[in-house]
Amino acid sequence: MIIAIDGPAAAGKGTLARRIAETYGFHHLDTGLTYRATAKALLDAGLPLDDEAVAENMALKVDLAGLDRAVLSQHEIGEAASKIAVMPAVRRALVEAQRRFAEKTPGAVLDGRDIGTVVCPGAPVKLYVTASVEVRAKRRYEEIVEAGGNADYDAIFEDVKRRDERDMGRTDSPLKPAEDAYLLDTSEMSIEAAFQKAKSIVDAAL
Ligand code: C5P
Repeated sequence: MIIAIDGPAAAGKGTLARRIAETYGFHHLDTGLTYRATAKALLDAGLPLDDEAVAENMALKVDLAGLDRAVLSQHEIGEAASKIAVMPAVRRALVEAQRRFAEKTPGAVLDGRDIGTVVCPGAPVKLYVTASVEVRAKRRYEEIVEAGGNADYDAIFEDVKRRDERDMGRTDSPLKPAEDAYLLDTSEMSIEAAFQKAKSIVDAAL
């Protein structure tokens, strides 16, 4: 069983994917972390972010078992990840590892930008989770403030918008809903309501 969850940054797809995986006892892969781990390895090694062969080499070395959001969550890593994510050779290397993960039994939940369209086009359940830029920026702002951090709403808003443009505008695997994806707009929906909706879709496919 493969559950593909796609959507733009800060739409709540990570939380949803984790809860679905827990509920059904499935494995979960946040594929954004594979791009982030590649970017962090380049940054740590002082290597350039614009050399496709160098970045591909790093992508081939990413260990899916060692991914930890806590060490990959920094803003600079996210920015660098979205830059190297436009490179076809990097995507090829990471997509191959993601496809192997998707074969895990009894099931796998993968979330990202291109799971339903490119990584697992045959997945029996595809969700496209989205929300307006305003709502996503507000959620991210509140997350940072609740964690005791300093946040600037306008800067976050611009950042979310820029990330959308980069993810939707790239030539290789742009962010878009698969034709057979269920669209879940969470702009005016609680995470709980979104989870219940997603659960009913998964139950119907089991
Ligand atoms: O979701 P997250 O912000 O962690 O992803 C970091 C970056 O990795 C995204 O901005 C996106 O450019 C890229 N990404 C991607 N394809 C995926 C997952 C993430 O291109 N399946």
